[in-house]
Amino acid sequence: MKDTVIDTLSWRYATKKFDPERRIPDEKLDIIKEAFNLTATSYGLQPLRMMVIEKKSVKEALVPLTMEQRQVADASHVLVLCVENTLDSSFIKNYFNRVETTRNTPRAILKPFEKFLVDSFSEKNPEEIQQWMEKQAYIALGNLLTVCALEEIDTCPIEGFEPEQYDEYLNLREKGLRSVVVIAMGYRAEDDFFSEMKKVRRGVENVVLTYP
Ligand SMILES: Cc1cc2nc3c(=O)[nH]c(=O)nc-3n(C[C@H](O)[C@H](O)[C@H](O)COP(=O)(O)O)c2cc1C
Repeated sequence: MKDTVIDTLSWRYATKKFDPERRIPDEKLDIIKEAFNLTATSYGLQPLRMMVIEKKSVKEALVPLTMEQRQVADASHVLVLCVENTLDSSFIKNYFNRVETTRNTPRAILKPFEKFLVDSFSEKNPEEIQQWMEKQAYIALGNLLTVCALEEIDTCPIEGFEPEQYDEYLNLREKGLRSVVVIAMGYRAEDDFFSEMKKVRRGVENVVLTYP
């Protein structure tokens, strides 16, 4: 365990070369899955799902769909963060069903907020809804990168992939899903040249503004 959160965040880096022999243990995978489930989303709607891939032949097949990035083949697991194809009123209703049963809250109390959400999503066009859902996927991405680092698991966030080809190859469309962003996760190879590189950042003094 690193001493501080800053040590942990400095330890993590976008891993370019994974050790293909090392596998993430199941108990760590369970933590990562639960961290995904616990990710905050706007209104709590969770329009997200995550596909976990371990099978070597599938990970190899993803390489040409990932701009030839070997990380997806050599990582222990590949996570594909997906959004729902549609977010309609029944999806919103299901959320309120969960609130009602989980918290034992009478529906009458929830109704005004439920109506507000159904109305506001019905005013958005499909592209706006997709964009909103994709933002939620990126919250999960950030959360998972940090949680993995805390668990001493290496990751590479990956936007350099062909979402439509992933959707087809992984049969995501028939599950009503679209891939948004990918995480390769496992353990850095001892000779990953990038692990020793200094972080390139703009610096706190340049990215943080103190009002006024
Ligand atoms: C949304 C997102 C997409 C990224 N896509 C890729 C990618 O396709 N391939 C890759 O090697 N790195 C990718 N990266 C890694 C970034 O290049 C890296 O995080 C950045 O240079 C900062 O370096 P560090 O994460 O090692 O500190 C991505 C990072 C993010 C946040």
